[in-house]
Amino acid sequence: MPSAGGAFNALSHGFSHDGNPGVALCAQAVTKSTAGGRHYHPAMAVLIVCAHPDLPHSRVNRALLEAARGLPGVTTTDLYGRYPDFFIDVAAEQAALDAHDTIILQHPLHWYGMPAMLKHWIDQVLLEGWAYGSGGNRLAGKRWGHALSTGGQAASYEARGLHQHTLAEFMTPLKRTATLCAMNWLEPFVTHGADHLNDAERDAAAQTYRHWLTGL
Ligand SMILES: Cc1cc2nc3c(=O)[nH]c(=O)nc-3n(C[C@H](O)[C@H](O)[C@H](O)COP(=O)(O)O)c2cc1C
Repeated sequence: MPSAGGAFNALSHGFSHDGNPGVALCAQAVTKSTAGGRHYHPAMAVLIVCAHPDLPHSRVNRALLEAARGLPGVTTTDLYGRYPDFFIDVAAEQAALDAHDTIILQHPLHWYGMPAMLKHWIDQVLLEGWAYGSGGNRLAGKRWGHALSTGGQAASYEARGLHQHTLAEFMTPLKRTATLCAMNWLEPFVTHGADHLNDAERDAAAQTYRHWLTGL
């Protein structure tokens, strides 16, 4: 089992970059300790929870994740890599959520929803009394967003398109989950037609993702 802080290493990596203006800002800021012993900058803290069942062979999500790594204030975690046996370290995941104010769930669209591991992560980590329900206010006021890729082109996610519904409609349960946890919903970052992007288009999407994250 990986250590609690083992997979949440991009932020400290970001702090170590010399010459980056974001680093100077971070260095002066108040930091917050977590159970894993890592220090996060609360005001800039973005946690990317990536769920791709075959990340080594992914073209789009792997490129996006690599583009995000090293951004100041951004922590990344690869759920399938971290939990190959599906045994989630709930305390470590909750500590990571505690330490960040923007949570981005990054994943390919699978059967109009999320990969199984991400659903399992939500089931395991967003517990009653912690994330929602009586006394469950630990995520309140944080932001919940998705960075997702689809095989379908944008036009196929329209009422008259192939899939007959908009992405917003397919994401209704997720938006409702965020609201139940008193979180603020971010409009998703979507990469459409992901299976047909050439390298230049894929790289452009990764750069756009970096800019989107930087502007959060
Ligand atoms: C099991 C499975 C289910 C999929 N379901 C959908 C779907 O419902 N809608 C869609 O547009 N694409 C679907 N796709 C295509 C993926 O979204 C697409 O291959 C992925 O976003 C590409 O990203 P990657 O290069 O990171 O793997 C599916 C792919 C797989 C393997």
